[in-house]
Amino acid sequence: MNMKTVFITGVAGMIGSHLIDDLLQKGYKIIGIDNLSYGKLENISHNLSHPNFQFYKADVCDFDTMKLLAKDCEWIIHLAAYKKIAEKDFSMHTFQTNGILLNDEWCDFLKENNTVNLVDPQPAKEE
Ligand SMILES: NC(=O)c1ccc[n+]([C@@H]2O[C@H](COP(=O)([O-])OP(=O)(O)OC[C@H]3O[C@@H](n4cnc5c(N)ncnc54)[C@H](O)[C@@H]3O)[C@@H](O)[C@H]2O)c1
Repeated sequence: MNMKTVFITGVAGMIGSHLIDDLLQKGYKIIGIDNLSYGKLENISHNLSHPNFQFYKADVCDFDTMKLLAKDCEWIIHLAAYKKIAEKDFSMHTFQTNGILLNDEWCDFLKENNTVNLVDPQPAKEE
């Protein structure tokens, strides 16, 4: 059986780095990106040489790169985010990161590639 390819943003973060352990074990192919602003390469270092994992240091706001990497993937799991904006320098860039994949350009891309499915978790609420 041909295993599906999953594109994961924020792959070096807490959820992404654990998720790829599970998905690689199940035989999925993973293309993961992270700008390493918060996540760490150490979180995914044990998978960097895995034949079914490709990692790119990239920013989700670089839409052309995102489209190029995601175009043949059946699933997109969007985890790139700043969970606690108050702990980072505030800017529109950081503020928009969570929602960047919900813009018109992405919606058009998803419509054109109807095999692509988007999973975008709700941001965790601050206590
Ligand atoms: N951890 C939880 O318990 C939890 C619960 C519910 C929802 N969520 C949501 O799931 C998502 C991921 O959570 P997490 O705990 O893995 O967060 P995390 O902070 O550990 O990981 C987020 C990753 O995104 C990367 N990133 C940030 N901005 C980026 C950008 N512009 N381009 C590329 N990469 C970028 C960071 O470097 C980091 O590695 C968030 O939206 C979070 O709100 C988390």
